[in-house]
Amino acid sequence: MKKLHRRNFIKRAAVLSGAAICGVATAKNAKAAETLPENFVPPAMPWGYQELDPEYVRKLGHLGYYLEECGGGSFWAIMTALKEKIGYPYNLTPLPTKEEFIDHLSGKSKGKHFQGIMQYGVGGVVNYGSLCGSVNGAASAITFAVPFDAVKSIVSRLMRYYETETFPNVKSNEYAVNKEFYPPKYKSGKALPRSSSNSVLCHVSVGKWCEKSGYASGSKERSERCARVTGDMAAMAVTLLNAHMKGNLETVFPMKLSQDTVSCRVCHFKGKKFEAGQITRGFMECSSCHNDMTPHLAENKMKTAYGMNVGTWAGAAAIGTVAGIGTHAIAGRLSKEEPHDEE
Ligand code: HEC
Ligand code: HEC
Repeated sequence: MKKLHRRNFIKRAAVLSGAAICGVATAKNAKAAETLPENFVPPAMPWGYQELDPEYVRKLGHLGYYLEECGGGSFWAIMTALKEKIGYPYNLTPLPTKEEFIDHLSGKSKGKHFQGIMQYGVGGVVNYGSLCGSVNGAASAITFAVPFDAVKSIVSRLMRYYETETFPNVKSNEYAVNKEFYPPKYKSGKALPRSSSNSVLCHVSVGKWCEKSGYASGSKERSERCARVTGDMAAMAVTLLNAHMKGNLETVFPMKLSQDTVSCRVCHFKGKKFEAGQITRGFMECSSCHNDMTPHLAENKMKTAYGMNVGTWAGAAAIGTVAGIGTHAIAGRLSKEEPHDEE
């Protein structure tokens, strides 16, 4: 293969990533990219954070959804607000401007194609229905902004917020009714029915909302609902980032798992004792999938080192929870004993 001169290579890569792949860079952007010095290396992450207005970001998130769906939309919203506020190095990321999005939606840039970072998050990862893209995209933007220890405490709260919030938030219903959102024409301008999902899965979230609202999953209203959820999640991400910067994350959003989940996690957490039930990991709301707890009352099918059956273990857990050991121990594990997914 012909060896490209480094400078040419950088120029080409910049033009390619900025213009051809993303199809969004203006001539001016492409030019700016070409002037990067030959030995240019983007700065290591995190890139830093400055307080943002959650309500502005909520509106950006809603707009972002119209072009890049939930995953691309929440990422774009937070990164765009950071780019506008901080500039470098956020301006290194290929992000179309708010004006470009609005122009496109007004029909001024026919044939233009947008592809955003994190857009793959759509519909729970390319419509597979797993983790909702609005959480996924926001988590990625958060990872650009703050050190990874903070990422963990902020994103776990964001996940929990997603499980517990009744979407769409009243604020975004209001913005739609008052025509305060950016798109020139909404998929629906109504205040939409609200529902909570008890789950971080797109599949469950959309399903429960459709069931409650009576709208089909392919309806304009469902799509508009997800645009508002995208705004809501981007706004919450920024609220949590602001709190983190002020050192009051725990006050603004206390990290509380449900009593159900805590009671399961007394035994089921990432650990080394197979026999004691340490055969799982994670903090998702257990009750969203497990609702029949009878296996614990029947005789244990698997051999345990202590020769106890699961029923006995369940009794022990009840005692542990009543004694107040559970909640405290679990909260500790969330922040300390499961620092990252190294195993
Ligand atoms: C007191 C400890 C304890 C508590 C509390 C507990 N479990 Fe278990 N669970 C176990 C043990 C031990 C096993 C079996 C592991 C083995 O067989 O060695 C088990 C097995 C299971 C299994 C596999 C069962 C099967 O037969 O396939 C599921 C699913 C499960 N638990 C879910 C839960 C959920 C959900 C909760 C909370 C509602 C919960 N457990 C609470 C200890 C516990
Ligand atoms: C999104 C759905 C979902 C959620 C949420 C969920 N589980 Fe499960 N869990 C499953 C499925 C599916 C299996 C596999 C069941 C099987 O093997 O038959 C499983 C298996 C298990 C098992 C047995 C291990 C195994 O692989 O057989 C345990 C124990 C368990 N879950 C505990 C929990 C606990 C504790 C929570 C909450 C912290 C939780 N689960 C949350 C779906 C879920």
